[in-house]
Amino acid sequence: MCYNIAAMAKYIVENSGPLFGEVTISGAKNAALPILAATVLTDGVCEINEVPRLKDIDVMCRILRSLGAAVEEDWENHSITVDGSGINVSEVPYDLVKLMRASIFVMGPLLARLGKASIAQPGGCAIGSRPIDLHAKGLRLLGARVAIDDGMVNASVDRLKGTLVYLDFPSVGATENIMMAATLAGGVTTIENAAEEPEIVDLASFLNKMGARIKGAGTDTIKIEGVKKLHGTRHAVIPDRIETGTFMVAAAITRGNVLIKNCLPDHVRPVIAKLIECGAVVQDELDGLRVRGDVNRLVATSIKTLPYPGFPTDMQAPFMALLTTVSGESTVIETVFENRFMHAAELSRMGANIRVDGSVAKVPGDKRPLVGAPVMATDLRAGAALVLAGLVAKGTTEVSEIYHVERGYEGFVEKLSALGAKIRLVED
Ligand code: EPZ
Repeated sequence: MCYNIAAMAKYIVENSGPLFGEVTISGAKNAALPILAATVLTDGVCEINEVPRLKDIDVMCRILRSLGAAVEEDWENHSITVDGSGINVSEVPYDLVKLMRASIFVMGPLLARLGKASIAQPGGCAIGSRPIDLHAKGLRLLGARVAIDDGMVNASVDRLKGTLVYLDFPSVGATENIMMAATLAGGVTTIENAAEEPEIVDLASFLNKMGARIKGAGTDTIKIEGVKKLHGTRHAVIPDRIETGTFMVAAAITRGNVLIKNCLPDHVRPVIAKLIECGAVVQDELDGLRVRGDVNRLVATSIKTLPYPGFPTDMQAPFMALLTTVSGESTVIETVFENRFMHAAELSRMGANIRVDGSVAKVPGDKRPLVGAPVMATDLRAGAALVLAGLVAKGTTEVSEIYHVERGYEGFVEKLSALGAKIRLVED
């Protein structure tokens, strides 16, 4: 599948009034990516369902094919089948890694399967330097030699050996890479201060279906008892909690009434709590979560991003857009990434007048309506935030660099339009 959005494409967003109707959430990008990487661990066949159709998924499929896997994409059914029997290449070139830093997820599986891996060092991005020192620390503790030469991360090992790995920060990617590698290590591996995100739990459940022996995923201590071999299996990816949160905020910021289907309320507890603090009404209905921004006057709150189960960093930008429209000044504290306020300057171009000081942003409210302006997406969640702001801004908002957004939100324009949003994608 060649899924390309022209680099100069942009969204044209008009003032849209309240969103009404229902939206169905797609599979989680950040679960599907490590799960697809985990298929490298077996020479069997894996069928992954509920996969969102995104550029990042396309890149991961290209990586798997470059390693020798046979990958079939069936987008009628949102299903990808991977036959790992032909995997015999242990190198992922820069031209693929530069498209998606999550390529690093194949390092652990390649080490466990082939005893070696060479991945171009993933670059940073707008939100931070995105180091991989914790990935390297964990794989070294499992016995691998890991060296970074000329921008390539080269790793090799005769046999991975189970051990104790303490993560200095509960890194999602490091937890996933180490957990995947440990499934085929000799002996037991314990990851302490592990990330607890639902995507980790989903990956662990997939690995256990393949015959792995993992306990404790979703807590800060994960135990993996290595096994000799893993076999193919079938798995449906969990719904995307960040897409869920984004549409919840879309309902609130437009003062609308939206039913969000195929979501797991337990995965978005902090977002529910913060929306209720702002005065939105959130009801857990039989076939989804209903979010209403049209019942009460919405008021300021404060949010502080933290590793799960804290408020998700990926929801910080969309939530900040909402906070520019409520009564009173809000405080937003970003503790996970060192540079994730780039959208504040773009929102300020729309009249939001946000003041950033280090990891703290002060968001004056009552900026409703914002003023439509040409703005730029700096990462996928910032792009989503600017679209939400555009829905409630006077006039027209042009959001450029939207390939970021198309990487992380399946059918974003179609889903918003079906709720009454006036948004269209134009390719320059
Ligand atoms: C995952 O990135 C997600 N990506 C991110 O989602 C998400 O924002 C992030 O987790 C936090 O929840 C995928 O799952 C593909 P981390 P990841 O390792 O694994 C530092 C999106 O919007 N760190 O938990 O890269 C790092 O610098 C994306 O979908 C180290 O210091 O995140 C950061 O400050 C954006 N050394 C913090 O940990 C390391 O070796 C959290 O990073 C690794 C990370």
